[in-house]
Amino acid sequence: MKGLTTLIAALALSHRPTLTLADTDTDALYAKAIKLMSESPLIDTHVDLPQIIRGLDRNPLSVLPNLATSLPGHVDIPKMRTGHLGGAFFTVWAPCADFVGADYGPNFLGMTEGLRDSLEVLDIIKRMIEQHPEHLQYAHASKDIKSAFHAGKIASLIGMEGTHFLGNSLSTVRLFAEMGVKYLTLTHTCHTSFAASNGGGGPMEASNHGPGLTEFGKELVRELNRLGVMVDLSHTSDQTMRDAIQLSKAPVVWTHAGARALQDHPRNVPDDILSLIGDGEGKNPGIILSVFYPVFIGPTPETANVSRVADHIEHIASIVGRNHVGIASDFDGMYAGVIGLEDASKYPNLIVELLSRGWNDTELYGVMGENLMRVMEQVDVVKEQLKAEIPSTAIWEKRPDLPANWGGPEQAYLPYEVRDLVNKRPKHDEL
Ligand SMILES: *[C@@H]1O[C@H](CO)[C@@H](O)[C@H](O)[C@H]1NC(C)=O
Ligand SMILES: *[C@@H]1O[C@H](CO)[C@@H](O)[C@H](O)[C@H]1NC(C)=O
Repeated sequence: MKGLTTLIAALALSHRPTLTLADTDTDALYAKAIKLMSESPLIDTHVDLPQIIRGLDRNPLSVLPNLATSLPGHVDIPKMRTGHLGGAFFTVWAPCADFVGADYGPNFLGMTEGLRDSLEVLDIIKRMIEQHPEHLQYAHASKDIKSAFHAGKIASLIGMEGTHFLGNSLSTVRLFAEMGVKYLTLTHTCHTSFAASNGGGGPMEASNHGPGLTEFGKELVRELNRLGVMVDLSHTSDQTMRDAIQLSKAPVVWTHAGARALQDHPRNVPDDILSLIGDGEGKNPGIILSVFYPVFIGPTPETANVSRVADHIEHIASIVGRNHVGIASDFDGMYAGVIGLEDASKYPNLIVELLSRGWNDTELYGVMGENLMRVMEQVDVVKEQLKAEIPSTAIWEKRPDLPANWGGPEQAYLPYEVRDLVNKRPKHDEL
């Protein structure tokens, strides 16, 4: 494999950015970045590759072989290899109703295809990992990431972005956890029965169900702690962030966000919320993983570059500590990455930038992946501590379909005594 490694290193060198430093310095820093990345995994917590696969062909699974050679967009296996990527969370996502001109209604009961779509996307991710075993290796816990990395594979994890496609149900959440989902973003760009969102950037109407977590959403956070699924606060309203931080027994995460003090966008995290995260007494020991989306990074979408991403990381670290930050591209989930981080072959440029700012090896291993793996281990410790708790029995109180009335024609499929009970029971709209 030495020949392959040399080839990859040569390819990687050809992707270096134009920095203002003298070329020899840049080459030395680039070589140092590659060395660090070969010693400890760089893990990207937000890669939207599945939506590209689903969008390219009516038969999405027929696209999977192309991953080994070339795919349009920001991510394919050669790009990830050139970029020395150690691990990635591939995203399960289906659009909010307004993306497709629909509406959930005041109680979020409309458009239930999202659940089917999210299952299909999860299937794409699983088949993708299965069909490229020489490059991708499924991982669920930090120890799996380490063993994939040491085997020379890209650790491949599953994240889920949003709660609008969960059918207003905790049952689906429990099953998604069993199927390998490791984080759940409490909203995408729309409000849900669980939580209020910060929207897509423009003005947004308030949710009918409050500015933060609903009672049902509080049950969700407790359930995620119990299941060992990370609570992701990217996209959520500021009040949802505060509510979840207050409630969560486990560290919280932002799987792709920036600093609002640098770029005033609702997708970025404000300083007062960052100050709730870190090592201090009473703080949540969570992590903020910095995104590459030009609009969130600024100062303008046209000038956003790798240095500015480092500015966001350093600003966030100045409040939460360098051991509570990480990296999250949003590749394939945005129209373009910032200058210097255009696709998955470019990750070393960010490490070069942080090296040039004096980050030491321990801090760099941390921002690349060790901080995240520590958080994942802490989330798993909380799961272990809660293992005696029973699953939440909560349901979304606005659902008209429960209790079920499934007795068939003339209730012939119900035992007589159950039929009597069902007939006497109050109907949903009488509750
Ligand atoms: C990024 O942009 C800033 C401001 O325009 C500039 O000073 C910096 O050198 C750029 N970074 C790189 C790596 O080109
Ligand atoms: C790196 O910096 C951290 C502080 O962020 C410090 O605790 C650690 O000792 C430093 N490590 C090295 C190898 O200099």
